[in-house]
Amino acid sequence: MPLETEATAELRALISGLKADDADMLEALHRVQHHYGYVSAEAMHVIADQLRVTPAHVYGVTTYYSDFRTTPPASCTVAWCSGPACRLRNGIGIRDAMMATLDVPMGGQTTDGRVGLMVGQCNGSCEQAPQIWVDERVVGHLTAAKAVMLARALRDGAAPETVGQ
Ligand code: FES
Repeated sequence: MPLETEATAELRALISGLKADDADMLEALHRVQHHYGYVSAEAMHVIADQLRVTPAHVYGVTTYYSDFRTTPPASCTVAWCSGPACRLRNGIGIRDAMMATLDVPMGGQTTDGRVGLMVGQCNGSCEQAPQIWVDERVVGHLTAAKAVMLARALRDGAAPETVGQ
């Protein structure tokens, strides 16, 4: 285990109390991801140390489940609604416009880490279809042209809470 730093001490505190046992692995990973938004290599070493398993084993479990990230999330997350009501109102066109403008695939993020794009599920607010969520805020009644403007603004550094108003 590398030298104890402030960061590793914080990680250690976060998962203290978990047993030296594989059974607590998912709990440890969830705690770390919830706190930091992802599971870093450093966190994997601390978890391995706490649970008395190898870092390679922690890495294997982390990457097995799609719920866990191994890289930091983007500063702003745009979730595109993949539900049927949104698709019926040009949801695919909106998705393609966002991907082209941000120059990222679905599930990716801009190279500067500013904007991430992901698939979202219908949350029942279909009266605002087609829609996306910008950091969980609904931006509805979109058109492809509006999606391009919104993506450009985010890409160029606009504050997420100001776009799509
Ligand atoms: S289908 Fe998009 S919000 Fe319901």
